[in-house]
Amino acid sequence: MVLLDGKKISQDIKDELKEEVSKITQDGKRPPHLVAILVGDNPASQTYVKGKMRSCEYVGYSSTLMRLPSTISQEALLKKVETYNQDPDVDGIIVQMPLPDHITPQEITQKIRPGKDVDGFHPLNVGLMTLNFPCLMPATPSGILELLHRYNIPTKGKHCVVVGRSRIVGRPTSILMSRGGNPGEATVTICHINTPPEELKRICPQADILIVAVGKPDLITADMVKEGAVVIDVGINRVPSPETRSGYRLKGDVEFETVSQKASHITPVPGGVGPMTVAMLLRNTLNAYNQNLATVGEIIPE
Ligand code: GUN
Repeated sequence: MVLLDGKKISQDIKDELKEEVSKITQDGKRPPHLVAILVGDNPASQTYVKGKMRSCEYVGYSSTLMRLPSTISQEALLKKVETYNQDPDVDGIIVQMPLPDHITPQEITQKIRPGKDVDGFHPLNVGLMTLNFPCLMPATPSGILELLHRYNIPTKGKHCVVVGRSRIVGRPTSILMSRGGNPGEATVTICHINTPPEELKRICPQADILIVAVGKPDLITADMVKEGAVVIDVGINRVPSPETRSGYRLKGDVEFETVSQKASHITPVPGGVGPMTVAMLLRNTLNAYNQNLATVGEIIPE
């Protein structure tokens, strides 16, 4: 069994980016600048955003963390996004999800200028990605593909089962795995909240590559995994633990102890897909800075 070491691969990517940034600044140019907007005080979101900011510092980007109260109106949040849209010294903007219930995430996502949409959530970027055009791609799905690529895992003609159809992970991952390219060219099945449990138990063992992004600890057990399958666990669940100082520990959507005995390759939680998301976000920010795909920002009127 091979452990897909997202921590190591993400470190390699960050070191590559750091080198590119030092060339930029040695030329006398400003470094890339990422703005993260964090609404409210969701503990997991705070941890993720802090990690993103820390990684910006490591590679040499400028970063701004804009914290806003959970009571902020949708209108005020849209205005804030627009300020950063118009700021020529800002290359990338992310609004950490989830947002409070009174805010419609699609409205916020649509407001971010596509050329600065380093999360790749804007409908224009999703459309471009779907049609295989250059674009800013969502970070977690591209992190999954990057892991498959760097571990030389073939995907062409393989059966890939994606469990979960979220806008952030499941849906875009299913598109990337089925579209042309390498990684890609897989036969893809998507299971979701309305897939009956007995169907999930029937379909998952057919997967050569099983990608799970649901948010339910230990949803996938060994009986649901084919011998030799590649298993990508996107779940980061906080489960109570009396042994840790924080009172919780992190668990994936896959029962690691048993499934790792059957899988040919598997991502650990933590240290698998999570760090890859941050690395790919940083890569997107450099792409947005270089504007090598960001002219998309000019296509639709705001
Ligand atoms: N919440 C969970 N994953 C993500 C992500 O990749 N980007 C943002 N903005 N929010 C998230």
